[in-house]
Amino acid sequence: MGMEKEKKYVAIVTGASSGIGLATAKMLMQKGVKVYGMAHNDFEGEFDYFKCDVTKPEQIEYAMNIIAEREDHIDFLVNCAGMGISGSVESSPDEKIRKIYDVNFFGTVNMCKAVLPYMRENKFGHIVNISSVAGELPIPFQTFYSATKASIESFTAGLSMEVRPFGIKAVCVLPGDTKTGFTAAREKNADDDASYGKRVESSVGQMEKDEQNGMTPESVAKVICKALFKKNPKPLNVVGFKYKFFLFLNKILPRRWVYKILFDLYAK
Ligand SMILES: NC(=O)c1ccc[n+]([C@@H]2O[C@H](COP(=O)([O-])OP(=O)(O)OC[C@H]3O[C@@H](n4cnc5c(N)ncnc54)[C@H](OP(=O)(O)O)[C@@H]3O)[C@@H](O)[C@H]2O)c1
Repeated sequence: MGMEKEKKYVAIVTGASSGIGLATAKMLMQKGVKVYGMAHNDFEGEFDYFKCDVTKPEQIEYAMNIIAEREDHIDFLVNCAGMGISGSVESSPDEKIRKIYDVNFFGTVNMCKAVLPYMRENKFGHIVNISSVAGELPIPFQTFYSATKASIESFTAGLSMEVRPFGIKAVCVLPGDTKTGFTAAREKNADDDASYGKRVESSVGQMEKDEQNGMTPESVAKVICKALFKKNPKPLNVVGFKYKFFLFLNKILPRRWVYKILFDLYAK
């Protein structure tokens, strides 16, 4: 797809044991890319796999050393490892808030830092970080999740400008609701203050339904692969027509209206 056919690209995909990461790892393999998958639980796949927690730099270093011994270039990094928490801000335990930042934000940062020296040396590299439509349209009662995803977007934008002279591109893919293991893995607050009544439950319940009726992880993987193989990928790649339309409205409507719509949908 555009780039020289002879070269066998090497990719690292995090979150490769499930959902979007798994679909991406498989799709890249089908396209002839050598894939190294990572996730923090045991997993058996058709690609090389490292059990590696992205929040643990020493585990990343261990995996990177093995990959660097086997390969003389690392071309692609796809950061799919991620998780969700939900509940009201005031009832969210500090350790949960730190955990979601650790996995979603610092996990992405750790992996980018780990591959950059290799990509710089080869004067080539494409990084795709997975944000979310929620990074642009913050979802009440998933406030910290939305905040981690917004952080990923500004991190990726800043990084992309730092590394452009080295031939390295860093972009975000923003999936909308996608049917994956994410819904079941979401860590909900054990208790939300009674003042919030049923608002938390119905908001998160609505989101769970939307996710389980959502897009396939393969449709997200397609957009990720497109961004990886493109010479000049777009900074933000939204998946799905519906979500592209929402983000268009987000751009043109007054912020106050956007928040009112989101309130009506997810916080009433
Ligand atoms: N599903 C959606 O509706 C949706 C929408 C927008 C954005 N996203 C984003 O898409 C990305 C992929 O999510 P998904 O929907 O495919 O969910 P998923 O099926 O739950 O997959 C998440 C993956 O992340 C891995 N992971 C979690 N914590 C990790 C850690 N500390 N270290 C290494 N790996 C870790 C999991 O591995 P283990 O099972 O081994 O822990 C799993 O492979 C996430 O960033 C998510 O925020 C999802």
